[in-house]
Amino acid sequence: METIPDQNLDPKDWESMRQLGHQMVDDLIDYWKGIREEKTWKPIPEEVKTFLDSPLPEQGKDAQEVYEEFKQYIFPYNKGNVHPRFFAWIQGTGTPLGSFADLLASGMNPNTAIGEHAAMYVDRQVVNWCKELMNFPSEASGILVSGGSMANITALTVARNSVGEEKIRQKGLKAASAQLLIYCSVETHSCVLKAAEILGLGSEGVRKIQVNDRFQLDSTALRTQIKLDLQTGLLPFCIVGTAGTVNTGAIDPMEELLEISKEYGLWFHVDGAYGALAKLDPIYADALRAIEAADSLAFDLHKWLYVPYEVGCTLIRDAKKHRDSFAIAPNYLLQEQRGLSGGLDSINNFGFELSRGFKALKVWMSLKEHGRAKYAAMIAQNNRHAAYLAELVVQHPNLELMAPLSMSITCFRMVYPGMAEEELRELNREILLRLQEEGIASPSSTSLNGKYTLRVANTNQRTRREDMELLVREVLRLGKQIISTL
Ligand SMILES: Cc1ncc(COP(=O)(O)O)c(C=O)c1O
Repeated sequence: METIPDQNLDPKDWESMRQLGHQMVDDLIDYWKGIREEKTWKPIPEEVKTFLDSPLPEQGKDAQEVYEEFKQYIFPYNKGNVHPRFFAWIQGTGTPLGSFADLLASGMNPNTAIGEHAAMYVDRQVVNWCKELMNFPSEASGILVSGGSMANITALTVARNSVGEEKIRQKGLKAASAQLLIYCSVETHSCVLKAAEILGLGSEGVRKIQVNDRFQLDSTALRTQIKLDLQTGLLPFCIVGTAGTVNTGAIDPMEELLEISKEYGLWFHVDGAYGALAKLDPIYADALRAIEAADSLAFDLHKWLYVPYEVGCTLIRDAKKHRDSFAIAPNYLLQEQRGLSGGLDSINNFGFELSRGFKALKVWMSLKEHGRAKYAAMIAQNNRHAAYLAELVVQHPNLELMAPLSMSITCFRMVYPGMAEEELRELNREILLRLQEEGIASPSSTSLNGKYTLRVANTNQRTRREDMELLVREVLRLGKQIISTL
């Protein structure tokens, strides 16, 4: 039989791959170093979109050529959250060492689910550090996941499976004596609703409670709704408090929610995807203190720890309930006392995913590089910049603050005498689009009480105070320009 020569995917010439790698690192360093001078965003030309729609290559090409294509068609059209004036949605900036840690993690390429190898211990250490950051007890359990949405559904799965003696994990929802109900506010992130739908509760299993004029869950309305639901034979089981809503950064009344959950024997979950880390800022520490007593907490490290995408964390106070919700032992994953299959408990026993990357490394290296105190200072800086922006807004007669300032989100709009609500909407929409298209800054928008507003969410480690001044100046300049053409 003819023998076919063995093949592999490694470079034929290691030295040119080394040089290519060095070039990539050089290009990234230049990019980060000079990012402030760049536009925040550039529209993608049609030819680039066409190129990025070409069919699957049958034959390969030289790695250098592939990299040139990346530089021409992908690199220049980045989203921009690495830029100091990116304020859209709630997105972190990343850091150089965090990015290099990702390179190292993918170079080592351990599947961090099971086995006796260093990544498992780094993962455990990072989860333990997350508990320390949040002042959760050391006996609590946790898992690193892809982000806030995954962190929330992981926690809500444990909450659902822990309902009374219902044995929902084994028997499914038919075991529940009545419709299960989660309580949260109308400002809660949509991932909670999605999670409830996936967990079989249906969207009708989510009671969205009204908010007060600070966009915080109205705890009196919550009590009334729980009582009503109990009277009608339904089964409340969980309250979700948000530590920093996505729209305005509002913090739900955590102490009251904790108290109500205790009173009614409900699971208290905190969605802190955006704001839990603001615990490190003394100004917000009290408002967020009750997080420490929650049954579960979801928070993102790719937002306010500025770690490159993706990584979020779920913490569960009762480690047994956590493990009981996910543990499974198929034959091929048997754990040994020794050897490669020995070591720590499988991480798959604490979440849905089996294969996992080494996402812990970028958190580990980042926390070691900067330390807790520096992160606390950075988070406080974002909050102070947001407050400064709010001050600039309040001082100007043509600007209006649209929500009370909370943490690092500032909502405002331009106003002009005689303009009707619909005209103000169009004016501010146009200001936003021009800010983005001219590459000046990238805020996003939202609608508050039916009014269109610019929304500046600052979880950006590169922003300076002067960026807030520039933003205000440019909003006014663009606004006047638009008004002059009406
Ligand atoms: C309050 C809140 N919850 C959940 C999420 C979802 O997190 P992720 O985008 O990491 O899935 C977000 C995202 O902005 C959020 O702000």
